[in-house]
Amino acid sequence: MAEMEVDPAFRADVLSGLAAPIRAVPARWLYDRRGSELFERITELPEYYPTRVERGLLERYSADVARIAGTGDAVVEFGSGSSAKTPILLRAVAPSAYVPIDISGNFLRDSSAALQKDFPELPIYPVEGDFMKPIVLPPEVARATKLGFFPGSTIGNMVARTSVDLLRAMKDTLGVGAFLLIGMDRLKDVDTLIRAYDDAQGVTAAFNMNLLHRINAELNGDIPLDAFRHRAIWNDRMARIEMHLEAVRNVAFAVEGQSFAFKAGETIHTENSHKYGLRDSRLLLRAAGWGLCREWTDEDDQFALILAEAEAPRFAP
Ligand code: TRP
Repeated sequence: MAEMEVDPAFRADVLSGLAAPIRAVPARWLYDRRGSELFERITELPEYYPTRVERGLLERYSADVARIAGTGDAVVEFGSGSSAKTPILLRAVAPSAYVPIDISGNFLRDSSAALQKDFPELPIYPVEGDFMKPIVLPPEVARATKLGFFPGSTIGNMVARTSVDLLRAMKDTLGVGAFLLIGMDRLKDVDTLIRAYDDAQGVTAAFNMNLLHRINAELNGDIPLDAFRHRAIWNDRMARIEMHLEAVRNVAFAVEGQSFAFKAGETIHTENSHKYGLRDSRLLLRAAGWGLCREWTDEDDQFALILAEAEAPRFAP
């Protein structure tokens, strides 16, 4: 480990995050190689309903999406990751091109290559980039109508203000006449939510605790791992599940030569997962200039798949 290069952005985020009055580390640092593998395991857990339910909705309703949004569009996926759900949509829409956008270049190239095997005729133009910043789409898709795809309730990992910024930026990226197919996790009973984010096998706990492993390994930390535990907490006022790492006793440690101390019960906040009711999700989209076309949910209304259309500017009222 001694030879490992320090990522300066990781270092800066951890040192400032642990020193802040409300201690928090940005969630993107959960997703190193081991973190990404653990997250894939989360999506297969019996308690983690979002992946299963959303896949079911895509299988049932992708043909409707194609009928409304049109076939032959260019599909643009934001944060494509392993592109696990994408083939279901691509088969129905039969797009003229597929543009996966992801921050992890290696992951992007591997999953694009795998997808190309299943869709040999489909032009794929991967874009390596942070979709939170403005994206320049490849010139090859300039003339096509765009269907944006943002599954997994990733929108819920942002606070409302950031998600509206992102949805508006997506509208600018995708242009006039664009559609957006977005997955949003719904409000539901707290027990079901907590179980989805604190599973019996402890996979989610391992995923969250992996951040401390990373800090120790990459930032020369000496955090005693048995001094922290994973916590998933429902914040009703903010309508979100919060992931924390909670000190189980008073503990002091160093990272990159800087000292930190936690009292028992104090936490590091690592992620949010906001949940949206029917009208919440519509309002969020409308606030960013997206009009509702159709929405589909499962029988138990656990998860929503929403098709929205870029609205032309108009004068009130
Ligand atoms: N987008 C996923 C969600 O909010 C991310 C996620 C699932 C997650 N489980 C997690 C993030 C546990 C941090 C910790 O459902």
